[in-house]
Amino acid sequence: MFYARSMTAFDRASEAAELIASRTGVAHHDVAIVLGSGWAPAAELFGEVLTEIAFTDIPGFSAPGVVGHGGSVRSLDLGDGKRGLVFLGRTHFYEGRGVEPVVHAVRTAAASGVKTLVLTNACGGLMPHWKPGTPVLISDHINFTGQTPLVGAKFVDLTNVYSPRLRALCREIDPTLEEGVYVGFTGPQYETPAEIEMVRRWGASLVGMSTVLEAIAAREAGLEVLGVSLVTNLAAGMSGEPLDHAEVLAAGQAAAQRMGTLLAQVLRAV
Ligand code: HPA
Repeated sequence: MFYARSMTAFDRASEAAELIASRTGVAHHDVAIVLGSGWAPAAELFGEVLTEIAFTDIPGFSAPGVVGHGGSVRSLDLGDGKRGLVFLGRTHFYEGRGVEPVVHAVRTAAASGVKTLVLTNACGGLMPHWKPGTPVLISDHINFTGQTPLVGAKFVDLTNVYSPRLRALCREIDPTLEEGVYVGFTGPQYETPAEIEMVRRWGASLVGMSTVLEAIAAREAGLEVLGVSLVTNLAAGMSGEPLDHAEVLAAGQAAAQRMGTLLAQVLRAV
């Protein structure tokens, strides 16, 4: 007897990759970058955009529900025959659609042939000297979402989730870059000061609502991962001011030039 196998998350990512390949006319992309809140202006500095495809045209993607989160994929010419995919916006777990849509871009990148993935985000910082607009390399993470993109007995090693090689490369480009441990909450509420104090004692120095699940899915797919956070505000309870999404976006705008220049170099060097 023949049983039709139902479609898996990986089949859906392959479908998305096929659409990207046919629209771009390129069978294979080399590197991908996911841009978080407020990072979109930096993308203007990455290089020549050959094709731009709306998320709504790609299987498994949907228009982002949050202001400042973009909503398209760009195919870039990075020179020397190298092609990059830029995901302008991401799906967050707090949108309530489960984990698969959160990691779909990562799996689509992997199905497109990508070997190196850059995950960016906007986050709160726990170091008082990290002013809004400071980029920080993610050295490790704490997955505090209670979720995982892995299904079944997939014992993925996370010893070096964020590639030491890629971090060293970034510090060659910009020796002032510092590193921090990112803790991923589901959000969408910002943290309480008590939660910030808790994760500080755990060794975290960056807090946000993305990246960790994507990084896990990327390691499952064998991608080399670079994580770069843009500290947009001091974490809850540290400044005496309430947290505000508009402030997060404004810090991204202000830092766009520095971020764009850094990432443009990174995308060419990896
Ligand atoms: N907490 C969580 N997510 C964030 C923050 C924060 O302080 N700032 C930007 N994204």
